[in-house]
Amino acid sequence: IYGPHRKNSRGVNLNIRNQYQPLMDAMSRFMDKTYRARPLLAFEVADDASGTHEVTSPYDRNQRVGSVQWTSAAQAAQALEAAWAAFPRWNDTPVAERAAVIRRFADLMEEHLAELMTLCSREGGKLLTDGVDEIREAVDFCHYYAMRAEQQFAEPTVLPGPTGESNELMLSGKGVFAAISPWNFPVAIFCGQVVAAAVAGNTVLAKPAEQTSIVAHRVIELLLEAGMPRDVVQLLPGDGPTVGSVLTSDPRITGVVFTGGTDTAQIINRALAARENAPLPTLIAETGGMNAMIVDSTALPEQVVTDVIQSAFQSAGQRCSALRVLYLQEDVADRVIEILDGAMAELHVGDPRDLGTDVGPVIDEDARRGLMAHIEKLKGEGRLLAETRLDPAHTAHGTFVAPTAFRIDGIDALEREQFGPVLHIVRYKASEIDAVVASINARGYGLTFGVHSRNESFAELITQKIRVGNVYVNRNIIGAVVGVQPFGGQGLSGTGPKAGGPHYLQRFATEKTVTVNT
Ligand code: SER
Repeated sequence: IYGPHRKNSRGVNLNIRNQYQPLMDAMSRFMDKTYRARPLLAFEVADDASGTHEVTSPYDRNQRVGSVQWTSAAQAAQALEAAWAAFPRWNDTPVAERAAVIRRFADLMEEHLAELMTLCSREGGKLLTDGVDEIREAVDFCHYYAMRAEQQFAEPTVLPGPTGESNELMLSGKGVFAAISPWNFPVAIFCGQVVAAAVAGNTVLAKPAEQTSIVAHRVIELLLEAGMPRDVVQLLPGDGPTVGSVLTSDPRITGVVFTGGTDTAQIINRALAARENAPLPTLIAETGGMNAMIVDSTALPEQVVTDVIQSAFQSAGQRCSALRVLYLQEDVADRVIEILDGAMAELHVGDPRDLGTDVGPVIDEDARRGLMAHIEKLKGEGRLLAETRLDPAHTAHGTFVAPTAFRIDGIDALEREQFGPVLHIVRYKASEIDAVVASINARGYGLTFGVHSRNESFAELITQKIRVGNVYVNRNIIGAVVGVQPFGGQGLSGTGPKAGGPHYLQRFATEKTVTVNT
């Protein structure tokens, strides 16, 4: 399934000067460039100043990245028409040709690493290290799905049959997919969705997050340069209500692949279900999490803190996999909190383009405001345990939120996911462990989960009882690797299947069984 010769992208090691410096030099060429993104559709789109939106950087709202022309509802409908018309031709294109386009695209992304990383920082507020990981993951998705498509779609699977009959199972594309992607992985998740749908034989209407349309535009330009036909993958930047409602109301949409909030997934699900005379759709949704970690008394406090800092605060906590609720057994709680307090005091919040920065900005003012309201509420209740200080010299012009850690009574105390650098800590007694696990399961999310313990049977038992998609033992709980840690949740966290896993492409495919009486 994984292919013995398959290797993930090596990326760039920023700790090695002769890798870091050339990359910085290359990135400097794109630091001041002004971009103009627009719909990339099967047909030409006229300039429309009234539908154009300005984009500034999360770390400095005075710095302009460029502008984005949004897709109108009429253009979205026309794009859908083109995608529908292109489907049979693309689905009949040999899978090796489809996979070849995707591999060329991966090579182009690696060639344009510096520009894509610069845009991830300028538009998405990503740290340099996160930018390297982002492009590497996108490239890995391309190679992995290209390989899996060739393994699964090129030849039918021969099945047993009674004498006188042959049976075969064949996979092909389903039709037109809408790919609705988030701003927190504006290249990786965006590419993962588009590439999986397209390599399986579907045509794709890609709607990037409003906040990160410029980098999405550059990515699709590279995909077109790699040879993807313009009517097979189209880019529809725009706002959710306008573009999203065209994409989810039309009966010709066969499936939607979505990553984002659970509420939005439910809106999409209802819209798809409300269509009359439409085929039953496929919804592949990867949504929110209320990810927990349980630390028992045998865990190593220093290791726990290192992993907690990464899990809760890397990418400014803006990962669906990020740690939100840390359960500390009372015998180790004080020690872990003491070391955590010291470690959080050392974190540097600031410009994501500086290698010395640990935590960059959150994506926009709405996000900052929502997080600050939550933080102020918990501070008002006297729950603060630790926090990082913001230095106005580095944070005055952007949307920054300092990492904080609060004491709460249990996961039930949280009404909703807080998508940022806010950690909640619960102390528990050893005798309460069953109730702790039951409460995490009962909360209904099921994405990532961590357990820290040197007692193997404890870790095994918890792993077996917890209902989540990705369990991590004695390490951090973020950064799933394509083809190695297939990623995705259950319950309120998503429909499955797992991105970067062996069963993902099947959900984009229709299966046909052919029985021949020989
Ligand atoms: N796949 C990412 C991770 O594992 C989250 O979306 O961190």
